[in-house]
Amino acid sequence: MNKFDKSVSVIGLGYIGLPTAALLSHKGYMVKGYDLNENAVNTINNGMVHIVEPELENYVSASVKSGNLKAFSELQPAEIYIICVPTPFELNTNLPDLSYVFDAAKQISKLIKKGDLVILESTSPVGTTNKVYEIFREEGIDTSSIFLSYCPERVLPGRIMVELVTNDRIIGGINSISTDKAADFYSTFVDGDIKKTDSKTAEMCKLTENSFRDVNIAFANELSLICENEGINVWDLIKLANLHPRVDILQPGTGVGGHCIAVDPWFIVANDPENSLIIKTARLVNNQKPKWIVSKVAEAINNENFLNPKIACLGLAFKPNIDDLRESPAIEVYEQLSKKYERVFAVEPNIDSNFKDFVIYSLEDAIKESDIVVILVKHKEFLSPDVRMMLKKKMIFDFCGAFQ
Ligand SMILES: NC(=O)c1ccc[n+]([C@@H]2O[C@H](COP(=O)([O-])OP(=O)(O)OC[C@H]3O[C@@H](n4cnc5c(N)ncnc54)[C@H](O)[C@@H]3O)[C@@H](O)[C@H]2O)c1
Repeated sequence: MNKFDKSVSVIGLGYIGLPTAALLSHKGYMVKGYDLNENAVNTINNGMVHIVEPELENYVSASVKSGNLKAFSELQPAEIYIICVPTPFELNTNLPDLSYVFDAAKQISKLIKKGDLVILESTSPVGTTNKVYEIFREEGIDTSSIFLSYCPERVLPGRIMVELVTNDRIIGGINSISTDKAADFYSTFVDGDIKKTDSKTAEMCKLTENSFRDVNIAFANELSLICENEGINVWDLIKLANLHPRVDILQPGTGVGGHCIAVDPWFIVANDPENSLIIKTARLVNNQKPKWIVSKVAEAINNENFLNPKIACLGLAFKPNIDDLRESPAIEVYEQLSKKYERVFAVEPNIDSNFKDFVIYSLEDAIKESDIVVILVKHKEFLSPDVRMMLKKKMIFDFCGAFQ
């Protein structure tokens, strides 16, 4: 039997599910993708993609053409089910909303049969895989005859098709045979190491990785506030401190955004608030940074007696050189400044000028029009000597170390 001679259902065809489905079908698996979004299903079946990710469309179009990838609006039976649905917060809280995962589990329970393997890839609080197992039991599945594992995704948007293959994978089953089955499956398409553990450790591992980065950035952001009061350049300080062979401080900035580092630590806090003091404090420190930035700009405007200040905000994305605005602290700064002052110009070279509610200015126009320039994201477009020349005679706030 060919090692790719299995059918795979991928549930949720977004940033994680679609690349996974495309890679597996490219390898030779028969992949049936499933998504509630009709537009996504139709687009994929036409060999195109509804999300931006390098190389993805080439994989999708080739696999649709070969017949190995087809998208559906209903879950299809398969031998392997991979759950890649969202795990957002419940409305207006920092608590995880697991309803998408549980819905997927209920749907799988209608089709699953003896010997099938279920893999949860969605970022999930500790214990979620066990809850999926409980759902299968409640739905009357003979859980001794199926396999269930957690395998978190760690890909970097922009490099997903590469990292799906090259990254090491952590795999934790609800029992050791489930771990082995899932590890055997991933070893057919992953070149990185496959590390076996239990489901709770695998769940905690993903949350730990992102919390570690959040805590480290919070430390850098806290240093940036202290250094401002002490009259010390925080960028120079961190460069010097990092010369110590066992110190590795990340960079301060406008805060922390995106749908991973700004979200996942709360999944640890939700499960154990009493013992996750550092993790929670890091979230609060990073969330506070945009407010501090607005107060610093306002203080300077008051001190200089600007009557109608014109302010250019450079960068809206949550990190350099991407177009992703989700949970972006730069947007918070822009919105707060726009509430306070009449003329605030947003510059974001990675998005269209008519994107969502934002009026986007060109870099040149915004700088020309403004007295004050607030650099919020270290996009490559802002770093050239020409931009430095344009910024001469402006009041500059560099909150992301663009000119360091
Ligand atoms: N995007 C990343 O870079 C990244 C990285 C690591 C982990 N993750 C995690 O992976 C998971 C998925 O994230 P994403 O970025 O792919 O999300 P996404 O929003 O891009 O895609 C999720 C897809 O699932 C579909 N969906 C929702 N409920 C469904 C259901 N019941 N049945 C079928 N389809 C359903 C949605 O229509 C959507 O197309 C999340 O837990 C996320 O935290 C994402």
